[in-house]
Amino acid sequence: MILFKKTNNLRKYLDNQKEKNYQIGFVPTMGALHEGHLSLIRQAKSQSDLVVCSIFINPTQFNDPEDFLKYPVTTEADIRLLLSAGCDVLFLPSRDEMYPPEASGQPPFYALGELELLLEGKFRPGHFQGVCQVVDRLLFQVQPDILFLGQKDYQQCMVISRLLELTDRNKSISLVVCPTLRETDGLAMSSRNRRLSVTEREKAPVIFHTLCYVRDQLRPGPTGDLLKEAVSALTAAGFRVEYISLADARNLKPCTDWDGQQELVVLCAAFLGEVRLIDNLPLN
Ligand code: PAF
Repeated sequence: MILFKKTNNLRKYLDNQKEKNYQIGFVPTMGALHEGHLSLIRQAKSQSDLVVCSIFINPTQFNDPEDFLKYPVTTEADIRLLLSAGCDVLFLPSRDEMYPPEASGQPPFYALGELELLLEGKFRPGHFQGVCQVVDRLLFQVQPDILFLGQKDYQQCMVISRLLELTDRNKSISLVVCPTLRETDGLAMSSRNRRLSVTEREKAPVIFHTLCYVRDQLRPGPTGDLLKEAVSALTAAGFRVEYISLADARNLKPCTDWDGQQELVVLCAAFLGEVRLIDNLPLN
């Protein structure tokens, strides 16, 4: 695996590879890697000739500065994991490389529409603009053919798909969304899980079990009572629920009365202590 810290060196190397007609697969991350990330690397390996992973903890997507400061940094362990998964290139830029001080001005605005006002967008104002800002820059630096993202961040996948359209990259970059990896007790793998205390970790799978309960109990008709039950179950287990929503799988608009046909996803964000967890389950 070759490690690059500077965009121009990365570009020189990737331009050479492109001359050989290599398909470049890209997995953007913020580090603190786990098996979920490695499954993206493996998927990328199986679909492309050269796999690039980036690690950059992007300050502009943290609406809570405390959360940014507490984000785990585990670079040495990450490098070992990437080597074990067969990653070809690691891009590890500094903050100045991603946000050059001389270029500081009004950040670009990405017209994400309603997607930005719902769910994560509502509870984390500015978050998706920050995600778009960094992913836009990373795509410019890496120029991949295929971009691999995890379904665990369902709304983020939709936002980045929109970013590809907005920046006219949807014709040159294919987006592959890979399934959420779970621990044996159902908890979705996440870099944030390592911040849970022992007792919080024991309770954490309730979030997935509640999503499964919603899936299993869903019947055509009004959805409000089922969602209230879900909030009560999570609250009783010690969660502070931000949202649990049954939403249209294609636009995330809430479904208050299901016709039995509409494709849905159930999505949830809830705090356990100080740790904010998100999860989702596509239903049909
Ligand atoms: O999902 C993440 O880890 C981040 O949001 C991403 C896509 C790497 C952008 O910083």
